[in-house]
Amino acid sequence: MERSMPADSWGRMAEWYDAKQGDTGDFWHRTLIDPTFLRVVGDVRGLHVLDLGCGNGYLSRRFARGGAKVVAVDASSPIIDRALVRESREPLGIEYRVADAARLEFLRAGTLDLVTCHMALMDIEHADSAIGEVGRVLRTGGRFVAILSHPCFDQGPSSTWLIERLFRATKVWRKIERYREPFADEIPWEIAPGQIVTTTGYHRPLSWYARVLRGAGLLIRSLEEAWPTQEFVEGSPQGPYVAEIPLHLVFEAIKV
Ligand SMILES: C[S@@+](CC[C@H](N)C(=O)[O-])C[C@H]1O[C@@H](n2cnc3c(N)ncnc32)[C@H](O)[C@@H]1O
Repeated sequence: MERSMPADSWGRMAEWYDAKQGDTGDFWHRTLIDPTFLRVVGDVRGLHVLDLGCGNGYLSRRFARGGAKVVAVDASSPIIDRALVRESREPLGIEYRVADAARLEFLRAGTLDLVTCHMALMDIEHADSAIGEVGRVLRTGGRFVAILSHPCFDQGPSSTWLIERLFRATKVWRKIERYREPFADEIPWEIAPGQIVTTTGYHRPLSWYARVLRGAGLLIRSLEEAWPTQEFVEGSPQGPYVAEIPLHLVFEAIKV
């Protein structure tokens, strides 16, 4: 099996991330991120699907259970090891690969019906090359569905909520900076009290995605902003804020 990319911070928290997402996704995924994403993905029965940046593969497994033939790719070898443990417990015929999303030469051009990328595009260093590869491996009419941190409202640590308490009301603002400029930033994950692992996140403005998708022969058909479920609004301290300002963008692009 291929090796992990150097400086694999995701691998250093593979066990924690696998336990966090489990087989259904964590609270944020289940109640905020996934419902809009899965609605755009739709029925996958009979489709040949690539799940790019698959993590522990909980969505790859969902697609396989839904009748798709799935190949799942992640750059982190320890993360794929966790997915393989789950595959050995419940064989679903998923083909897991350790690979950089920017280099998918093991997949033939024009062979896939659907590529999904779930909360990984903003973690992929060479996302332009990765999107180029998505355009190459999709058949004409095939779909690329991705959900990512909203480029306008969530740039990792350099964006935050600003809550202003007025006489009768509370106003919610979202502070962002350097929107136009692509940049990399360190994202801290507290995997145990006081134990922080940092990964690198990449901010790119919305127009960057539209341009790179178009360059890869992918035309945006739908653009959605993940709607929080009632469970999220009531169960998360950020629920009422996210009900006002979305933190996640979903797009569906068609290979022309
Ligand atoms: C936030 S996790 C999302 C994982 C999974 N899709 C989920 O939603 O649970 C981001 C994933 O992207 C992977 N990743 C980062 N850079 C990558 C690259 N260049 N190629 C493939 N995967 C990459 C990481 O290893 C990590 O598993």
